[in-house]
Amino acid sequence: MKRPVRIAITGAAGSVCYSLLFKIATGEMIDQDQPVILQLIEVPEAMGALRGIAMELEDCAFPLLHSISLHDKFEEGVVGAHFVLLLGAKPRGPGMERSELIAVNAPAFADQGRAINQFANRDVKVLVVGNPANTNALCASRNAPDLSPAQFTALTRLDHNRARGILANHTGANPKDIRRVTIWGNHSNTQFPDLGHATIYGEPAMSQVDENWYRDHFIQKIQKRGAAVIEARGRSSAASAAQAVINHMHDWINGTDENDWVSMAIVSDGSYGIAKGIVYSFPVRCDYGRFQIVRGLKISDFARKKMTATEQELLTEMKTVADLLPKETEASHQNLSVGLRSGQYLRTDRVR
Ligand SMILES: NC(=O)c1ccc[n+]([C@@H]2O[C@H](COP(=O)([O-])OP(=O)(O)OC[C@H]3O[C@@H](n4cnc5c(N)ncnc54)[C@H](O)[C@@H]3O)[C@@H](O)[C@H]2O)c1
Repeated sequence: MKRPVRIAITGAAGSVCYSLLFKIATGEMIDQDQPVILQLIEVPEAMGALRGIAMELEDCAFPLLHSISLHDKFEEGVVGAHFVLLLGAKPRGPGMERSELIAVNAPAFADQGRAINQFANRDVKVLVVGNPANTNALCASRNAPDLSPAQFTALTRLDHNRARGILANHTGANPKDIRRVTIWGNHSNTQFPDLGHATIYGEPAMSQVDENWYRDHFIQKIQKRGAAVIEARGRSSAASAAQAVINHMHDWINGTDENDWVSMAIVSDGSYGIAKGIVYSFPVRCDYGRFQIVRGLKISDFARKKMTATEQELLTEMKTVADLLPKETEASHQNLSVGLRSGQYLRTDRVR
C-alpha cells in the first residue's frame, strides 16, 4: 500500500460534497491504489451534519479510506494537506448581485490562502469551487506568498463537461470522441465555450454542426446551464459538479488524454493576450502533476470578442477585491514562467 495522502475539503456537509466524498473514497480522484485521509471542514453550525456524513463514509468500509478528521477551524483542517478542495461558500441569496456575492465570500478565501501558505504541504494543489470561483481562487493565491500561483486553480471543468455532453447529444457522437473543447474565462455567464478547435471523431466539430446553432443556441446554453438546472431541480448542480471536481483533480495529478486537452481556470501568464494575473480559464494539458497552456491556437475575431468580454468581467471582479490582494504577491502573479508550471519547479518564479 502507498502512504496515504491528505485531502482537506471545505463545505464538506454541502450538496456537492455529498456526492464528491464517496467518489474520492473509492479512488476515483487520484488512483485505485492510493489511500486517502479526509480532513473535512465545515462551519460550526454544520458539524452535526458533518458527523453524520463521516458515519456514512465509515459504514461503506472503503479500503482506501485511511481515516477521517472533522474540523470547524480551517487552520486545523488544512495541516499537511496535499490537496485542498475549497467548496465552502455562502450561497447567492435572492436578488443578490454578483458583486455582493464577491464581497461576502472573497475575504474568507483570502484567509484560507494565508492558512494554506502556513500549514499545508509545500507541494499542495488547490482547487476552488465555491463561487465566484475564479476571483476566490485569485484571493487565495495572492495571500499565499510562499507557494506558486500555479498551485491554485478554479473549476471550469463542469462547463467543459457540459459542452462535451451537450455537443454529443446534438450530434449523436459519444462524448469520448469529442475532443479539444475549450472554456475561456470566468465560471459565469460571460464564459466562452469555444468549439473552434474541437473535433468529433477526429474531424473539425464546426464542419459537423450548423454555425447558427453554435452561435445562437449552444454558447448560451452552456453559459446558462447552471441556472437551467436550478430552475428545473430547485437546487443547483451537485452530482455533476462533484464529477467535474474528480475529473479536474484526476487529470491535474495523472495527466490529460493524448490528443486532447481540458479547461482549467489558472493564473494568466498573458497567453492569448489575456491580462496577466487574473484567474482565467484556458485550454491546458497536464503531465507529471503540472499543467501547461495549449499554445498556438488561431483565435478568430468572433472568439476574440467573447474572450475579451469575459476577461473584462474578471478585471472588474479583481478591482472589487483589490484590498484583499497584497502588493507582496503582485510580481509573482505577473511573471509566471511559461514552461514549467508546478509547485516545486515554480519556486524560481518568486524572487525573495
Ligand atoms: N465552479 C463550479 O462549476 C461550481 C459548480 C457547482 C457549485 N459551485 C459552488 O460550489 C459551492 C458549494 O456548492 P454546494 O451546492 O455544495 O453548496 P451548499 O450550500 O450545499 O454547501 C456549501 C457548504 O459550505 C459550508 N461553508 C460555508 N462557508 C464555509 C467556510 N468558510 N468553511 C467551511 N465550510 C463553509 C456551508 O456550511 C455548507 O455546508 C457553492 O459556492 C456553489 O456555488 C461551483
